[in-house]
Amino acid sequence: MIIKVTDPCRPLEFDLARPLEIEVGCGKGKFLTARAQAHPECDFLGIERMLERVRLFDGKCRRGKIPNAHVLRLEALYTFHYLLPAHHARTVYVFFPDPWPKKKHHSHRLFGPLFRTALWKRLEIGGKLEFATDHKEYFDEVCAGFATDGRFERVEAMPRPPEVWTEFETMFREQGLPIHSAAWRSLPAEDLPLEPLTVPPEAEPREGIARRVSLKDR
Ligand SMILES: C[S@@+](CC[C@H](N)C(=O)[O-])C[C@H]1O[C@@H](n2cnc3c(N)ncnc32)[C@H](O)[C@@H]1O
Repeated sequence: MIIKVTDPCRPLEFDLARPLEIEVGCGKGKFLTARAQAHPECDFLGIERMLERVRLFDGKCRRGKIPNAHVLRLEALYTFHYLLPAHHARTVYVFFPDPWPKKKHHSHRLFGPLFRTALWKRLEIGGKLEFATDHKEYFDEVCAGFATDGRFERVEAMPRPPEVWTEFETMFREQGLPIHSAAWRSLPAEDLPLEPLTVPPEAEPREGIARRVSLKDR
């Protein structure tokens, strides 16, 4: 089901008695809807900013009658920063995030100190981040960031047999591309309030920017 956000300042409500798993950039929902079907005791939230993919995710939930899978059409960092309950998510999956390969676009990458901080705040202590990408340089950058962050420890990534591959993983594996996977567990740490997010001048929306950044850049 699509979660309708009527007030972007109001945190989302979850049944805190039920475990929660989240997929960032869930695309059409192949992975998360299958997982939700297999685990009715848990709630699942997909976060995806492309409308068409959100609709396809929702269609899968309706056809498959999967009441515990939900999808939100919003930007992931904003959602983690402002809208999710503290220390509730059991697992966060980030599979094949846009790698933004050009150096001038690296600031668009999801993983950075801001996302790690919001991620730590939303994961239960001991909760896990599962990460996979086909982009080795981005993989190394993400691993290096976590390696310097005392709020996380690296653990073994989950096994991902073909049944749980996402749409992009299926496509990349069919092309024979190497896939890099890692996982981290969150550790107890000082629980500071999150600072308000600010938009750096270079990230301010400008006329024409959507046309200059094409899909192949991501
Ligand atoms: C390369 S696709 C991978 C989709 C899916 N995870 C898979 O493996 O098949 C990346 C997805 O993340 C979404 N996305 C990228 N950045 C996002 C953000 N900041 N917030 C929400 N969705 C995002 C894109 O719209 C796209 O659907």
